Order: sequence, then structure tokens, then C-alpha cells
Amino acid sequence: MVIKDRMYLNKEEIIAHISAKPFRIISEAADELGVEAYVIGGYVRDIFLNRPSKDIDVVCVGSGIELAKAVARKLGKNTYLSIFKNFGTAQVKSGELEVEFVGARKESYSRDSRKPVVEDGTLEDDQNRRDFTINALALCLNKDRYGELVDPFGGLEDMETLTIRTPLDPDITFSDDPLRMMRAVRFATQLGFFIEPDTFEAIIRNKERISIISKERIVDELNKIMLSPKPSIGFELLDKSELLPLILPELSALKGVETKEGIGHKDNFAHTLMVLDRLSRHTDKLWLRWSALFHDIAKPATKRWDKRLGWTFHNHNFIGERMIPGIFRRMKLPMNDKMKYVQKMVTLHMRPIALADDEVTDSAIRRLLFDAGDDIDDLMLLCEADITSKNPEKVRRFLRNFQLVREKLAEIEEKDRVRNFQPPVTGEEIMSTFGLAPSQPVGVLKEAIKNAILDGMIPNEYEAARQFMLEKAEKMGLKPV
Ligand code: CTP
Repeated sequence: MVIKDRMYLNKEEIIAHISAKPFRIISEAADELGVEAYVIGGYVRDIFLNRPSKDIDVVCVGSGIELAKAVARKLGKNTYLSIFKNFGTAQVKSGELEVEFVGARKESYSRDSRKPVVEDGTLEDDQNRRDFTINALALCLNKDRYGELVDPFGGLEDMETLTIRTPLDPDITFSDDPLRMMRAVRFATQLGFFIEPDTFEAIIRNKERISIISKERIVDELNKIMLSPKPSIGFELLDKSELLPLILPELSALKGVETKEGIGHKDNFAHTLMVLDRLSRHTDKLWLRWSALFHDIAKPATKRWDKRLGWTFHNHNFIGERMIPGIFRRMKLPMNDKMKYVQKMVTLHMRPIALADDEVTDSAIRRLLFDAGDDIDDLMLLCEADITSKNPEKVRRFLRNFQLVREKLAEIEEKDRVRNFQPPVTGEEIMSTFGLAPSQPVGVLKEAIKNAILDGMIPNEYEAARQFMLEKAEKMGLKPV
């Protein structure tokens, strides 16, 4: 697929993208210092792809720090300059704008660490050491060459043919910074590009090197894959490039179909990705998307063959919930309310569908609302995305019942307000009414009141709950004091 018209820009159009005041100031400062300066990397790529981009990288053939200082002086008031001497870089912040300055470098990395040996270099040296041809484009800012595109590796052509390719031998580019293997997959997913075959083969060859990369950087890329329009592209590429078992072995374990007595089960990897894509059409909530990725994560661990029932995955939702903290800890994903949310989604992901399959009673709806709380709408989205059956009759029936569940949810929510259920009689009141210290009977009474409300025996109101408590307590032999 070639989408030429969105790539091609003439000189005037290019200049229009770099005509804001800060670019002009960088231009002036560079000319005064007598150094070449270029906008480079993602900012230039995004001009041609017509994507919004805010961080500007400037490379100069000379000292990036000196250029940054001169630019900050010219910008004057409300400008902040930070210098990172060890890295030879500087950042200028002015209002919304953030510009990174660096001197052009020649760089090579030692095999066992990411610590580069850096020397000053030419623009071409600097472009050589970048990750992909589409990220190596540079636009000159010096007055006499303003807006001139320097594209030694055919980055523009690669953009036209939607190609991710390294500027140098991919074994060198990936070995220099193995995170770039993940970046290749991420750009392919975000931009809808294809990884050029030699580049892809090199990812397979270098995959083990991903082990020297910090989990935080890997997760940054995974999150960007997750937030892409069709995240499955990324996970399929991670699988094909053999990176997936090194990063998320639990996800790789979902792959494959076993057959017994002529009966197979669905491929849970393919199913998971389908659910993730279907969900992503309706939401860009990152943690809901992660929940979709993990909703069936315990299927391999719970898979059994039952002579009568065929393949079963009993309790895979509960076991999945318990697997989440281990995965989050290892991946350095946040072990806070985000993780709890994912656990909740995983554990509850079959509840609405089980309801739709059964008779939709008020009591079951109240219990679902009680357990899901404010996350009920997210849970419904996940559950609906989970209906991937190929049998159209089955799908129709589920969707019809599902609609009924949605209607009932709205109805019961309005009537009984159980979404953020607080028992109308508190533990303190139970204790003071019967002169009890914190003890088992207090818990029993509390639970009984909750169940009476959720089962629709009494309304979700104080008077009714108090009356119910008194009757129940009497049966338990408790007397008010
Ligand atoms: N770069 C690289 N290797 C990396 C990271 C970055 O060569 N591992 C180079 C690329 O030229 C890239 C530029 O540094 O374009 C800026 O990197 P970054 O800000 O991380 O990415 P962008 O390309 O700007 O894209 P995005 O903002 O979407 O991450």
C-alpha cells in the first residue's frame, strides 16, 4: 500500500511547519555561532506523516550546549535552560515548547551495556546511529539552507512505502540499543507500517539482547502498542519476532490448540488479540485494554479434558486474578489501584455473560452491580468484546440477552442504587445496639443485611435494614441493650 499524497510536501509546505518563532531563533543563533543546526528525528517524521508532535530535537555540528545557551538568551523571559553535561545535551523550555539540543555524534556501544563511547561527529555520523530511516530525517535550520531535507537513507521513500528499516546493518543498530527491536514493533503498530524483512530477521537473531533493557523502557513501548488503534498488530509481531516469550511468556503460553477425540478448543492467543482489538474500537482506556490482554491469562494453567464436557478452563478467571500481581511485579507495571482494577476485570469478566446466558434476575444484577461498582460500564465493554464465537446464531442470542442485561442494569441501578453500595446500617450501629465488641456475630449480621438487600428481600433503606437487623438478631439470641 502506498499513500503518496500524505507524504509529499514541497519546500514551502515544509518551511510552514518550522516557521514558528523558536525555529527562527535557533536559526539565528546557529548562524551567529557558525554551526550547522538541524531539526531531526520524530518531529521531522511527524511533519511528513501529518501527525501532531511536540518534542523537538535539534542536532548541531558543534556544541549542542552552547547553541542551547544562545537560544535561551535570545528567547529571554520565561525560558528555562537545563544542561546535562555528562550527556552533552541541553533542554530549553519556553511555554508549551520543549527543545532538546545535542551535538552531532559518532557513537558506538559496548556489547554488554548501553553505555556508549561518544565522539563528536558529522551530521551523517549522527544520522547513522539513529534507529530507523524514518527517524533519521533532518531539516536544516541555517538561513541559507532553511528547510532543506537531509535524507541519506531514503527515509522519505520508506515513509511512502510504509517501511520500518534501520539505516545501518540492522544487527549493528539493534545491538547498539536492543530496545529498538521493541520500537520497530511499536512504530509498525502505531503507524500501520511494515518491518522490512532484513530488519525483521535481525530482530529474531538479536532477540536475546532484550534482556539488558530495563523493564520500564519495555513497558513504555508496550503501553504505546496498547494505545495504538489495533494493538494486535504489535503482539503478533512480538510473537513472530520471538520477543514475546522473553517479555510476556504467559501470553505466549496462550498459543496453540490441543485436540482430543476430535475436539479442539479455540486458540486463546488469537482469541485474546481479537478481544483486545474489538475492545479498542470502543475505548482508549489503557488499563481496560491491559485487562483484555490478561482476561484469559490462566487458561493454560486451568485447562482440563473432561470426557463429558470436553475442554474446560474452570476458575480461569479467579486463577487469572491471582496471576496478575506476579506479572505486574516482574514487568514493573504499577502495583497500585491500576493493578487492582485489572484484577477486578479479570475476575469478573465472565459475570455479565453468565447472566445473559441464564435468567436475568434482579438479584443477580444487584450482585453484579455491587461487585463491579463504578467499573460496571468498563466490565460490560470487556465482556461484550469477549463474544467472538463464529456461530452467528450463538452471537445473536448472546447480544440479545446482553442488551437485556444492560437494560436491567440501568433499571436496578436507578431503583436500588447499589453501584457504590454502603450498608445502610453500619458495624458501629450493630455493636452499640446489642452491646457487642467487634466479633463474629457483628459480621454475620452485616452480611445478612447486605444479602437481604442484594437479594431484594428488603429495599436499600435505613428503616427496612434496621428492622431486618432486629429480627435477624432475635433469631440469633441477641437482645438490644
Ligand atoms: N532514537 C534512536 N534510538 C532509540 C531512541 C531514539 O535512534 N532507542 C532516536 C530516533 O532518531 C528518534 C529520536 O531519537 O526519532 C527521538 O526519540 P524519541 O523521542 O524516543 O522518539 P520519537 O521518534 O520522537 O517518537 P515518539 O515520540 O513517538 O516516541
